Amino acid sequence: MEIYKLAVLGNPIAHSLSPEIHKVFARQTGIELSYERLLVPENEFRATADRFLEEGGTGFNVTLPCKGDAYQFANQCSGSADRCKAVNTISVNSRGQTMGENTDGPGLVRDLIFNRGWKIGNQRVLVLGAGGAVRGVLWDLLRASPELIHLHNRTGSRAESVVSTLNVERNNDRLMAVDSSELSESYDLVINGTSAGLQGEVPDLPARILGPGTCCYDMVYGSSKTSFNTWCRDTANCEVADGLGMLVEQAALAFQIWFPETDSLDTAEVISSLRKNL
Ligand code: ATR
Repeated sequence: MEIYKLAVLGNPIAHSLSPEIHKVFARQTGIELSYERLLVPENEFRATADRFLEEGGTGFNVTLPCKGDAYQFANQCSGSADRCKAVNTISVNSRGQTMGENTDGPGLVRDLIFNRGWKIGNQRVLVLGAGGAVRGVLWDLLRASPELIHLHNRTGSRAESVVSTLNVERNNDRLMAVDSSELSESYDLVINGTSAGLQGEVPDLPARILGPGTCCYDMVYGSSKTSFNTWCRDTANCEVADGLGMLVEQAALAFQIWFPETDSLDTAEVISSLRKNL
């Protein structure tokens, strides 16, 4: 039986849970694979990726800070990857061309809708942050037909620039950058895409953005409740979720790009076993 060779490329990479996740998918589908972590030295993404493919790699995932490099590396990119200029999954087609896809946005949407049972369609959504993490998911959130998405960032000009780039293409007014004074009402869904939590901080926000029915999602995850989710619970007793489900769902979508014949991945099994070991 063929053994497929996969990897995740990034820096740092030792913390990545991707090998663990993909090994469970391999067991679920009976596909034999190896999946390694590859540390990418500074400015050596292309060399690392080329070498891996020359050595027989079937495809690979890409994590921070290499998603922009992977976008440049791919011979062709999907619409979603083009919109955010970032790629997290590389596959190789039958003509040997590298194909770039970004499964972060669809992974987030799947986690929100299928795993949490939350809604995006016709909802008032607030997204916090304007860095790579947010740019990678906004397009797919918009495609899920919210009533509106307000984008708020500590540095307002960055939010405005993200919005103008996306709105030029899509020509819609459902996505809008807002400053603190415009955060005047509660939202149905609040998604934290800032990196504030990595320093244990919470973005400076008025409590009125949260109501008792607000669902709050933090794109980061950890062994205990994230600082943002703790704030949401303490402020308005909101339902909260962290980004572990998004991580597993984006991985499942990548696995299905490499192995399109597989459609029965049990992501819930992976999420609960990772949660126990965090
Ligand atoms: P990433 O690629 O992970 O999104 P990034 O491009 O460095 O990383 O973006 C980090 C985001 O978190 C930015 O939106 C940043 O706000 P600024 O643009 O104002 O820097 C936001 N962020 C980081 N720390 C924050 C904090 N303590 N409070 C609010 N926002 C914070």
